[in-house]
Order: sequence, then structure tokens, then C-alpha cells
Amino acid sequence: MHDRARARALPHRATRLDFLLPKEKIWCPAKNTQIPVPPVSDPNLFHRPGYAQDLARQLLEPGPLDEGLRSGVFLSGIRRIGKTTFIRQDFIPALLERGALTLYVDLWTDRTRPPMTLMLEAVRAAASELQHPASGLLQKLRRVKGVDFGAAGISLSLQLDALGTPGGASLADVFVELVKKGQGHVVLVIDEVQQAMATQDGQDMLFALKAARDRVNTATDLPGRLLIVGTGSHKSLVTDMATRRSQAFAGAHTASFEPLGKDYVEWFLRRVEAAGLVAPPLEAAMEGFRSVGSRPEELAKAVRQFQDEVAAGRGADAGTVFATICATLATAAAELDIQSIEEAGELAVLAFSRIAAGQHRGLFAAETLATFSAALGREVSPNDMTPAIEKLVSANLIVRKGHGSFEIADPFVRHVWLQHLQMRQTLSQPETPQPAKPGSAAGAS
Ligand SMILES: Nc1ncnc2c1ncn2[C@@H]1O[C@H](COP(=O)(O)OP(=O)(O)O)[C@@H](O)[C@H]1O
Ligand SMILES: [Mg+2]
Repeated sequence: MHDRARARALPHRATRLDFLLPKEKIWCPAKNTQIPVPPVSDPNLFHRPGYAQDLARQLLEPGPLDEGLRSGVFLSGIRRIGKTTFIRQDFIPALLERGALTLYVDLWTDRTRPPMTLMLEAVRAAASELQHPASGLLQKLRRVKGVDFGAAGISLSLQLDALGTPGGASLADVFVELVKKGQGHVVLVIDEVQQAMATQDGQDMLFALKAARDRVNTATDLPGRLLIVGTGSHKSLVTDMATRRSQAFAGAHTASFEPLGKDYVEWFLRRVEAAGLVAPPLEAAMEGFRSVGSRPEELAKAVRQFQDEVAAGRGADAGTVFATICATLATAAAELDIQSIEEAGELAVLAFSRIAAGQHRGLFAAETLATFSAALGREVSPNDMTPAIEKLVSANLIVRKGHGSFEIADPFVRHVWLQHLQMRQTLSQPETPQPAKPGSAAGAS
């Protein structure tokens, strides 16, 4: 949503990559001139230049132990913790600053559109931008690399319209050209990369990218490499991508995205105070931030509620008050998730619980259907199963991992659901008196 709002705010489509560049003007092909844009360094965002520089350096100038990064790097972390923000505001500028031609595609911008279509669009946008001598991307590369790309900009000797069609240029052809003409490394950043695993189109895209990577990186006459970075909100799916033999990116490097830390919380509290509001104590804010999953939006919500408590004269023990607010927020978020699962219907609930318990396959197996039939007290057929699963998939509660295999979309929701089931089970069990153990003293242990 954040991304879409930003994309809408951009004056035109062809220079989508432009917003990644720190500068005041961008090239507008429609007007054939430079037009002003708001500065990229957004004062409402906390920047992480150190983290960005470290990652960029590791990727572009790998040490002897980082060579594996050449196969691809996947960063994972739960939703809403700032991955996209970091990638766009800090990481991509750091890569460009080091002279790497960087392309970005977010597979979650529009989940109804096939990954390959989104990828081809991003590649075409980048290529068409490079053709404009005054484009920000080109100017940046020119400045950083000290290379004069010629008066006409970089034009690829490929038909971009036919890209990806039978008989047209392949992704590998384009990336070879980009490395050659851009005279250096090309980095492709794919946000929410695990989305590609859900469909055949996405899998095809991954294999096409692998082919491109292998072609560029084994060539001896190219001035750079193709480096692929993926981010994902689903750790186990992302890990699957990097470890399963059948996957295009088997062997890629995986790491956890570093969540925002104390420096972020301090920065945020200073802004709260600067706005004339009351900030909770740092330690309580830090603990609260962790308890709401290190999500900036939840912290803001908690601080907002904290103002009401203070105004009502309940702010004396600020630390405890703030901790309670955060705990309540965490529970409320969990309740919303539970509600959306239950709304999918009783069969969907059984399917969800089975997957959450780690049984990713066999939802349509006779044995599973028999168990579900017994639990519901009615016959459950494969025909009943299909719509229940579709409901869970379209609500983005589960994702397809491959043929007949599913995974819970958000690990946090899985955790919440398992806790909920456990609590329900405990509550529904009649309390049975424990037989006294002979010789065991009451209260021992
Ligand atoms: N560094 C940051 N400074 C301020 N707000 C941030 C920062 N990173 C993330 N946020 C806010 O947190 C929310 C989620 O961020 P986003 O990057 O979309 O997370 P993710 O990609 O992990 O789902 C957004 O509202 C975003 O503005
Ligand atoms: Mg994101």
C-alpha cells in the first residue's frame, strides 16, 4: 500500500526507478525535461546507512567467505518490520553509490499479476530509463563510475517489446547486455520473492533468472556479474528456496533481516517529544516494540494510546502503563488473525490447523478426509476441500509451496493460532484431580 501510494505519487511510469535516487529532479520523458520531485531522504523515516553499506559491500566486494553470495542472497523477516522501506530507502541507494546498476521488483505490488509480468516490466522500465541521457539513474552511474556512456545514453541492442516471448530476447540476453553496456555489476532486488514459488509462472521466472545469473557469471568477457537479492516475509519458504535441490536458487545464501533496534526506538521517541507529546521511558518503549514484533506502526499506535492514558491522569507508572498497552495491542492483532481464519469456515479451520501443525501435504488424502469427516460429523469429500483451501489461499492465510503442498503465509499468525488452539484445548478439558504421588512432598520442585 505504502509502495502503491508512492508509485501513484510519481508523475509517470517510465522512470519508476528514479525515486530511488537521492536528488531533487528526475527526467520526465513525457515532458522531455527534468522535473522536480520531493527529496528521497524522507525525514519521517529512520535511515540505516551502516547496515546498507555492510550488505552492499558484502555483495559487491565479497571476501573469501562471502563468495557464496554470488548464487543469490535471501533476507527474510516477518511482515511490516521495515524490509521494503530499508531496501528502497537505504540499500538500493547504497548499491547505486557503489556503481551497481540496480533493478527492483516487488512481487506483492499486485498479487493478482504474474511474477514474470512484473519482472519483465521492471526490466523494461530500467532499460528504457537508461536510454535517456538525462535520466537520474544514468547520471548517477556516470558520476559514480566516471564512465561516459555517450550522448545518447545506453541503448540495448535488443527488442524489449518482444522480451520474454517465444522468439524474443530472454532475460539472460537482457542481463548480459545490461552488464556489458552498464560496464559493471547489475543487482536485481526482488521483494517478497517467495511469492514466485506459488505459481508455475513464478517458478518459470526463477529458472529464467537462474539461467541469466549462470550465463552472466560464468562468462569470462563481461565486466560485471548479475547479483540477485530477494527479501521475503516467510522464513521457511525463503529457506526452502535456497536449500531445496529442486529450486532454482538452491545454494543461495539466506540471512535474517535485522529488525529495527534501540537506535530506531530512540529516534522515534525523540520525534514524539519534538511534536510536544509525552514519550514513554526508553526501556519500556524498547520492550514494548519487541513485544509487538518490532513493527513501527504498532509502536506508533501504542504511543498514541499512551497519550490518552497520560491525559486521563494514568501515566504515573509510565513503564507499566506502556507495557500493558503493548501487550493489549499484541493480543488484539492476534485476535484479528484468529477471526479471519475462523471466518473461512470449519473445514478451512481444520485444514489451517493441520498445516500449522507442520503437515504441509496430504490435505486431500483419504486418511485426512476421514479425520476431518469425523471431526465435523459429516462426510468431507475432495470437492469440499478445494473451495476451503481456495478461501485460505485467497485470504493470504496459506500459500502453495508446490504441488499439493501448503504453508502458513505468516509465521506470526501460525504462532498465534497454535497458541489459540492450545488455550481452547486447555479450557475444554475438564480438570482431573491429580492422584497424589506417594512420598512426594506438596510444593516440592
Ligand atoms: N526505517 C523506518 N523508519 C520509519 N518507519 C519505518 C521504517 N521502516 C519501516 N517503517 C514503517 O513500517 C511499516 C512497514 O514497513 P515495510 O517496509 O512496508 O515493512 P515490510 O516490507 O517488512 O513488510 C511502514 O508503515 C513503514 O513506513
Ligand atoms: Mg515489504
